[in-house]
Amino acid sequence: MRSFVVCKLHFWPVCHFKQQNSMQVTDIYVFFFLRNKNTKMLCLAQCGSIHDTVVREGKASILFPSANEVFYNPVQEFNRDLTCAVITEFARDQLAQRGLKVLVPGETERVVVSLAEEKNEADAQTEEKKNGGEEPAVTTTVGEKCENGLRVLEALAASGLRSVRFALEVPGLQSITANDFSTQAAALISRNAQYNEVSHLLQVSCRDASMLMYEMRGKKNRYDVIDLDPYGSPAPFLDAAVQAISEGGLLCITCTDMAVMAGNSGETCYSKYGSVSIKARYCHEMALRIILHSLDQRAAVYQRYIQPLLSVSVDFYIRVFVRVFTGQAVVKNSASKQALVYNCVGCGSFHLQRMGKRTAHGKQMKYSAATGPPVGPECEHCGQRHQLGGPIWAEPLHDTAFVQRVLSAVSGNPSRFGTSKRIEGVLSMVTEELEDAPLYYTVDNLSSTIHCNTPQLLQFRSALLHAGHRVSLSHACKNAIKTDAPPSVIWDIMRCWEKANPVKREKLSETSPAFKILSTEPSLQACFTVREDANPQSRKRHLTRFQENPQAFWGPKARAKAGSKHQTFLRPLNLNWDHVMFPLFISADIRFKKTTFGSFIHSFFSFSSALTGCNLGILVLYSPPKSDRLGNFFSRSVSE
Ligand SMILES: C[S@@+](CC[C@H](N)C(=O)[O-])C[C@H]1O[C@@H](n2cnc3c(N)ncnc32)[C@H](O)[C@@H]1O
Ligand SMILES: [Zn+2]
Repeated sequence: MRSFVVCKLHFWPVCHFKQQNSMQVTDIYVFFFLRNKNTKMLCLAQCGSIHDTVVREGKASILFPSANEVFYNPVQEFNRDLTCAVITEFARDQLAQRGLKVLVPGETERVVVSLAEEKNEADAQTEEKKNGGEEPAVTTTVGEKCENGLRVLEALAASGLRSVRFALEVPGLQSITANDFSTQAAALISRNAQYNEVSHLLQVSCRDASMLMYEMRGKKNRYDVIDLDPYGSPAPFLDAAVQAISEGGLLCITCTDMAVMAGNSGETCYSKYGSVSIKARYCHEMALRIILHSLDQRAAVYQRYIQPLLSVSVDFYIRVFVRVFTGQAVVKNSASKQALVYNCVGCGSFHLQRMGKRTAHGKQMKYSAATGPPVGPECEHCGQRHQLGGPIWAEPLHDTAFVQRVLSAVSGNPSRFGTSKRIEGVLSMVTEELEDAPLYYTVDNLSSTIHCNTPQLLQFRSALLHAGHRVSLSHACKNAIKTDAPPSVIWDIMRCWEKANPVKREKLSETSPAFKILSTEPSLQACFTVREDANPQSRKRHLTRFQENPQAFWGPKARAKAGSKHQTFLRPLNLNWDHVMFPLFISADIRFKKTTFGSFIHSFFSFSSALTGCNLGILVLYSPPKSDRLGNFFSRSVSE
């Protein structure tokens, strides 16, 4: 025995582990590296079994194989919690119409918690009266198959976590189809369904998502809920989804291709969504309006149209919940619901131009071409040119009454979800947003355009209110100002602010937007005295509206490595223990990502195959805890 493989392989993995440690692996791996001097072949034996990692989220316990074969992103818990909350409310509405009452765990009675308590109690009473004040007698609860319930498709299901959570947490479901075209994923979904004892509700499908949806687009086969949670863009699945959804059914769609949708690549955005994104302060809301535009446009091809229930921009992705209906007459309105965006490159002023015009003539609607543009060749405020973006959805992003019901259900039953507090914060902001004022400005951007110091958010909001305009925040951006005030009023307010907080004019270039804007006298006298109604309830109550960084290296995750190469190494080998002389045994306390583990083993092998004259090494990896000890372990082993 001359040397040991493991002794020579310490540096790379140590660095790698130190950079990325986010998931605990609780299993013991034993690998034998045997090197035959003559053939120079490397073999591996895996001794003992590799157990799965169990991830708990919501009511589900999900098995994950140790290699990175199937996708999982823990940071999307909020996405899954919110989806369970939304589908539950949707099921409550739908099943009430079928004479069924859904029973939600932890919910004793409908609790109405709201920002403006009195108004909403009144709303709740009116709603009760509307429903005849009587609760349906037949009930349905989570985990039980409801014959008259909703049919759900999770078209891109990966581990099946989301589908298992639907089965365990959303009442009133007839079936859940969890589909993924990866055979590893489908096998895992099946195991997870059994592990969570929901196989009676959850069917596994291993198909291309679009093909499955196309096959199910016949009226009798359509799904009541379709969830699309792809890597990056959902664009390839939208055509099939708008056809495979039932009448009034619910589409739940995630987009994580935010670089494209938020203006880094307007031309790519156009090719995927039929809309040009632009890099502007309001890009996150614009992204929401781009996906809604795309959905409405594709639905219109089949005489269908969308009704958004909730559209949120969260962390690194956006998520929309829309209902789809059929109706030739309403589809005619589609053009007038979309708008082009003119965005000034100098001062960020924006104007919307509807794509079509609709005018009521008694009970009849008249449709005509829109006229425009709403801006001249140069910006009237700063003299710079305009970029053209869109078309985007220019109608409301949410159904506020529906969002209020989701909000009431979650805040009245906070132990239901791990991220209830954040759901409450985000939805509270959503209910406060101005419905009819697309896009927004930010106070810091307005100030930086004219190089002055920044007014407080409340001062600026008060100035708009004093001037007779409406104003709200946006859940999509911290310092957003949504308002029905035109850009001329916004700049007048900033001019007044600058008078009290002067900038050094001599430092401004005469061609700069700041110089141009400040060269005009304001035509209104802005008042910055803070008004009580300038502070929205969600802000007063310090609700969790924006998330702190949830963990290191968070964000969209890389694709799982389908048919991972690493697996081929994990073949059991019959060892002849006579050949094992003086094995070196290293134990290391480590924490690492599943993604990392695969590449670690892979590199380990590449390294060892490059070595000559090594006979044997054994590595045992286990956890927990204390990743920082790993370096010591390895360096000690080497020096010994
Ligand atoms: C981002 S993951 C889904 C994550 C999952 N919804 C969750 O909440 O954990 C995307 C999944 O879509 C699957 N996929 C990608 N393209 C597909 C297609 N055309 N048909 C079916 N599945 C597909 C991938 O195998 C992958 O497992
Ligand atoms: Zn301008």
